Amino acid sequence: MNIVVTGGAGFIGANFVYYMLENRPEDRIICYDKLTYAGNLATLEEAQKNKQFKFIKGDIADREAVYKMFEEEKPDIIVNFAAESHVDRSIENPEVFLQTNVIGTSVLMDACRKYGIKRYHQVSTDEVYGDLPLDRPDLFFTEETPLHTSSPYSASKASADLLVMAYHRTFGLPVTISRCSNNYGPFHFPEKLIPLMIINAMHDKKLPVYGDGLNVRDWLFVKDHCAAIEIILRKGKVGEVYNIGGHNERQNIQVVKAILKELGKGEELIEHVTDRKGHDRRYAIDPTKIREELGWEPTTSPEVGIKATVEWYKEHEDWWQNIISGDYQKYYAEMYGKKEIID
Ligand code: NAD
Ligand code: TYD
Repeated sequence: MNIVVTGGAGFIGANFVYYMLENRPEDRIICYDKLTYAGNLATLEEAQKNKQFKFIKGDIADREAVYKMFEEEKPDIIVNFAAESHVDRSIENPEVFLQTNVIGTSVLMDACRKYGIKRYHQVSTDEVYGDLPLDRPDLFFTEETPLHTSSPYSASKASADLLVMAYHRTFGLPVTISRCSNNYGPFHFPEKLIPLMIINAMHDKKLPVYGDGLNVRDWLFVKDHCAAIEIILRKGKVGEVYNIGGHNERQNIQVVKAILKELGKGEELIEHVTDRKGHDRRYAIDPTKIREELGWEPTTSPEVGIKATVEWYKEHEDWWQNIISGDYQKYYAEMYGKKEIID
């Protein structure tokens, strides 16, 4: 099979590339990625040594380039990870989120219609369901939960999901969608909570916790997400949505304290700052469907996963030093410079 992984130079896409090269050595894996600020070829250095792997630089919203890639690579499967993925950036500049996440998705699906495809898989997010209240721990997102988005990021992802389902119903495109909870692990770009806190703490820099820090996220080790997508490609039913999560809810403040403990640093580094606009309170996935229908279960608890992730960042300083030495400093100054300390 020829499997095109769009966005494969980013965090989850790259982990998926490695997962597939290891677990499906008979398949060709083609990474198609625009290499935005979040894409990093250094992440794919090991993959480039594998004959079954190929990298193509390109934009999913560039119709000509996407069609050319289809003509040359003849994909059997598309797994679309390519996206603008950071909520804070979507609040500052929504437009690029619409361009990549919505228009890009439609261009990919048009190519699938034109050239034919065995499966188009859309990597979506639990954020399309909006948020849950903190005082109702009995509530979870199921696949039937209505879409109810909060940020320009989640609105763009929900729009893409609706388009994917429309292409299935209208044109019979063989699609599946997965909606996963927050991931963490190797190659996570340090604008997101866990890698940002690890790197700041390693530098004895303040850890900027938004608001009261009581917001809850449902954390999944990235390899478990990759395994779930691989199972959906093999056993998932066309036209279906699968939620992915492992009942690993943690408050942000708990996650930050666990990182400090792992690094042997003090909690005085924590600084509560101005809250994110429209900040979702709680995400929590009900993974019953994927467990019962496809037999997927997560294997890594947050305790083990966070320890492994901190170790990875300690051992791969070259990887993240390269990232934080460039435009990242400007991003950090602009994004965090305007936040006020609130405790
Ligand atoms: P990321 O920001 O780390 O990587 C995104 C990748 O997409 C980068 O390599 C970037 O260069 C590429 N890209 C961006 N725009 C592109 C375009 N127009 N054409 C081609 N490539 C482009 O993102 P991530 O955290 O790895 O997320 C991957 C996918 O998983 C996204 O669709 C996201 O919505 C979804 N998701 C993420 C999480 C999470 O916790 N990170 C959880 C659930 C779902
Ligand atoms: P993030 O990693 O951006 O993922 P998402 O918003 O998509 O869930 O943020 C995770 C949580 O951590 C979210 O509640 C916002 C919070 N957060 C902070 O408190 N400080 C930070 O510097 C960042 C980046 C996030």
